[in-house]
Amino acid sequence: MKVKNPDNTISMMDPSLLLRPEAVYDGKDVQAFRDYSVDDEDPIKARVRKTYYTMHTNVTVDFVKGKMDKWLKFNHFKSTIKDALIKLNELVDESDPDTDLPNIVHAFQTAERIRQDHPDDDWFHLTGLIHDVGKVMAFYGEPQWCVVGDTFPVGCKWGKSIVYGDDSFKDNPDTYNPKYNTENGIYSPKCGIEALMMSWGHDEYLYRFLVHNKAKLPEQALWMIRYHSFYPWHAGGDYSHFETEKDQKIKEAVLKFNQYDLYTKSAAIPDIEALWPYYESLIDKYMPGVLEW
Ligand SMILES: [Fe+2]
Ligand SMILES: [Fe+2]
Repeated sequence: MKVKNPDNTISMMDPSLLLRPEAVYDGKDVQAFRDYSVDDEDPIKARVRKTYYTMHTNVTVDFVKGKMDKWLKFNHFKSTIKDALIKLNELVDESDPDTDLPNIVHAFQTAERIRQDHPDDDWFHLTGLIHDVGKVMAFYGEPQWCVVGDTFPVGCKWGKSIVYGDDSFKDNPDTYNPKYNTENGIYSPKCGIEALMMSWGHDEYLYRFLVHNKAKLPEQALWMIRYHSFYPWHAGGDYSHFETEKDQKIKEAVLKFNQYDLYTKSAAIPDIEALWPYYESLIDKYMPGVLEW
């Protein structure tokens, strides 16, 4: 996999994709991914590590409040879901024509695999299709490190399982703020995962976007979208002291979704043109028209 312009931090290639099984092609072992070992001789590993260090240095409670203030006005552009998916894809292609598969292929592979296993749950198919479309923020001045990658809550002690977290937060001012650096921080025990202020990224943005635009998706779909990158929780086991009974249901839904996000390695590239009419009918059913982003 070629990585062009390694110093261009606003490159449209998603650095986290490089270490996710969904980016595996040509028979490469799934286990080789989510490998965060340090090797600065390896340009891909160095780039991913740099992205996470920049994220972990800059993402604070105040930073997230600022991004929410910027993005939750939904006054950046207007577009249908289909055009947003295509738009994201076009930009990836333009900035790095050597990137393996376009993001839209991942979107359709995820959706189609879900459709195979759950033929009657059309909302689930659509969830697979759109789950990464929040990455459009990268078109509007956001650097990759606050759009992509694993998420985590701010306002409390960093979870032990956050990638590079034993070292990468050393320059983050919140690490030394006694309001934020305790087990509970600004939250109370058993407050519920939904009460946590998450690091800003494509998950939280798309969740908020769907609520703002009154998408008719069931709540499981919203949970899947909001927490699919929250690996320190759903895979790492951190933050369980904030969980309520409801969070078990949320986690179940997220894990049910994530297997399709992660293991959509597929020899068959979906025939996207042939599939659009079906997915457009789902878009019309659940989130029709021109929406506010
Ligand atoms: Fe994602
Ligand atoms: Fe994905």
